[in-house]
Amino acid sequence: MTEFAARVEQVSISGIREVFEAAGEDAINLGIGQPDFPTPAHARRGAMEAIEAGRTDAYTSNKGTQSLREAIAAKYDRDYGIGVDPADIIATSGGSEALHLALEAHVDPGEEVIFPDPGFVSYDALTNIAGGTPKPVGLRDDLTLDPATVEDAITDETAAFVVNSPANPTGAVQSEADMREFARIADEHDVLCLSDEVYERIVFEGEHHSPLKFAETDNVVVVSACSKTYSMTGWRLGWVLGSNRRIERMLRVHQYAQACASAPAQYAAEAALTGPQEPVEEMVSAFEERRDLVVDGLEDAGLEVPTPSGAFYVMPKVPEGWCEEVLDRDVVVVPGDAFGANGEGYARLSYATSTEELKEALEIIGDATRAVR
Ligand SMILES: Cc1ncc(COP(=O)(O)O)c(C=O)c1O
Repeated sequence: MTEFAARVEQVSISGIREVFEAAGEDAINLGIGQPDFPTPAHARRGAMEAIEAGRTDAYTSNKGTQSLREAIAAKYDRDYGIGVDPADIIATSGGSEALHLALEAHVDPGEEVIFPDPGFVSYDALTNIAGGTPKPVGLRDDLTLDPATVEDAITDETAAFVVNSPANPTGAVQSEADMREFARIADEHDVLCLSDEVYERIVFEGEHHSPLKFAETDNVVVVSACSKTYSMTGWRLGWVLGSNRRIERMLRVHQYAQACASAPAQYAAEAALTGPQEPVEEMVSAFEERRDLVVDGLEDAGLEVPTPSGAFYVMPKVPEGWCEEVLDRDVVVVPGDAFGANGEGYARLSYATSTEELKEALEIIGDATRAVR
């Protein structure tokens, strides 16, 4: 007998934290994964009114309140023309719990989960926690995930593959043609396509497309959240949607691990989704301006930068020793290998920080880049 479960022993705490802890107090933080905007006032009011009225004193339905799930379903109809039954949605404690439910419910010990490398840190960790075998795959030069790479990696042991668009850490956005291909692959190979769409509203060029729209089977499960769209990372409110039989399996995990998502957060989310969307539009145009500033600044410093079309990250190729040099000068960036072995030689910069700070950071980055060349 061992003291701790082997599944958990192989999971380490995210490398991103280590970078924060190494940074000085006055450092400019380009490591952060959350918008620097307040939660929209109408969302905050939604929670406050529910609290005042005593509507948050009890457990909600395990899946979340009916009215929240109706608001989420209406959003899919409005944004993408996708019909979703509110019964096929579970409100979760952030997108993180939604990813956990999906993998717990679909992955048996030893089964493989394919995901992008570099990619969001949870895919590898949650696959291990579910007892599965992580199968990271590389990206195209523009840092998008090639459906052909996923299809080539599928074996008899594959339970699922993860698609994340817009992506963390790259900011890359998959094309509609790619999303059609991911849906076809899920259909033809009868494997689950887990589509992580938490950055769905933060797109600068083109549009967000969900593989859910194109699948002919129920092999696509979608995860999203209020966290990034409504600057609500602290509220912990996300959701997972899929066919009834899949939701029913995921609910078994959610019911015993969580009971229900936080009720105040559910009321805030409902208000966020049904209220005015201008704060989202304003945030996205601010991010787009900053994206241009940062890409130009990094190119001026002599770095190669695939231009990101979404989220609020940029991932330049960097010379050896660059991250250390930049960190020494009190600008926090995350080394690319925190997101997988293929992230080596890259760094992730978040531009969810003020334009003034970004300008200052870019000057420091220019000096640091010259110093390591
Ligand atoms: C790609 C991606 N998926 C999911 C999440 C989890 O989001 P949440 O804060 O809603 O749990 C994050 C958070 O950074 C993310 O970047």
